[in-house]
Amino acid sequence: MLYHLECIECHKKYKPSEVVYTCTCGGLLDVVYDYSKIHLTKKDLKGPLSVWKYRALIPVEREPVSLNEGGTPLYRVDRLAKNLGLKDVYVKHEGMNPTGSFKDRGMTVGVTKALELGMKTVACASTGNTSASLAVYGAKAGVPAVVLLPSGKVALGKLAQALMHGAKVLSIRGNFDDALKLVRDLCDREGFYLLNSVNPYRLEGQKTIAFEIADQLGWKAPDRLVLPVGNAGNITAIYKGFKEFKRLGIIDSVPKMTGIQAEGASPIVRAIKNNAAAITPEGKPETVATAIRIGNPVNAIKALIAIRESGGTAETVSDDEIIRAQQELAALEGIGVEPASASSIAGLRKLVDMGVIDRDETVVCVTTGHLLKDSEHVLSVCPRPIEIDATIEAVRKAVFEN
Ligand code: F0G
Repeated sequence: MLYHLECIECHKKYKPSEVVYTCTCGGLLDVVYDYSKIHLTKKDLKGPLSVWKYRALIPVEREPVSLNEGGTPLYRVDRLAKNLGLKDVYVKHEGMNPTGSFKDRGMTVGVTKALELGMKTVACASTGNTSASLAVYGAKAGVPAVVLLPSGKVALGKLAQALMHGAKVLSIRGNFDDALKLVRDLCDREGFYLLNSVNPYRLEGQKTIAFEIADQLGWKAPDRLVLPVGNAGNITAIYKGFKEFKRLGIIDSVPKMTGIQAEGASPIVRAIKNNAAAITPEGKPETVATAIRIGNPVNAIKALIAIRESGGTAETVSDDEIIRAQQELAALEGIGVEPASASSIAGLRKLVDMGVIDRDETVVCVTTGHLLKDSEHVLSVCPRPIEIDATIEAVRKAVFEN
């Protein structure tokens, strides 16, 4: 067998044919490969970027359920870098995936796995993007999707996607953490396939962000990777991707994994700062960045390992800092991202100002979702359009006068 599932706590092993999300001891599971049987070199990786280019490191056998995910741009952002006082900054814009977020990388793998396991219904809890992606990949696969969302706290673009692509959309009177607890129970009772990031197969798709960055930088890892952290799956997945490429001799180093959370939802940052072995969940998470409005991240233990092992760090940013960074990235670089994604830029600025990040470091920020996901927020922070009469005088007056 080329791979199996293994508990990160007690190391109990599970066969790939088993439908299991966490260990009987409660520990998180990881997909563990027999790397001695995987021969992957830079030469094998020629051609356009995509999630399925890395099939040798993706644990599914059947034909993928795919909408051409991955292959997102890595932008060099010199104007922003100058503003931040840095030399070498890049943005990996995951908002350019088929549904406008990085979740597609995990869903193409996770939904393919669902078919391979013969599952008849897929389900998730979500702050929005995961539900949009699950609805889309469920539609593509012809499998019904059920999504549980925190009522009133999901950006409209994401909700629109989940609805239009035909998911059964349930609006829960509670927050994301409540919805995740519920959907786990639902999946256990009804035999639905759980596609939150506690499902280790999803992370196997998301680790391809690391593979692409290494390729786009000329087979090098950056010194540091900065990204928003919510349920803490993505930081875990990207760290694994870099470690795998290092192990296979494709790159020489692994970046310092640097997680950013909103001030009102920051259990991982507190655990890192307090040197705690585990997080203390937050009962009432709150932030303008609704995508990362999470108080009890399910992958916390894996994320703490990624941050500590890589020599990285974690920091909080305020809602005002997030909004400023979102506007700065849009105006200076032409990159439109949703608030959660902008937290990576806001965090980078803060850590440079604090002297934690060296001015010579090569930094990649991951922007996880597209601006259009949350256009309601845009209207609340940008000036309103100027309504005028349809005459050239009125147009000139509006253009040239303040
Ligand atoms: N950025 C965006 C735009 C997200 O949607 C999420 C998570 C994150 C960052 C954080 O990633 O959870 O892997 O640490 N959104 C999930 C959802 C929770 O339901 O869409 P993470």
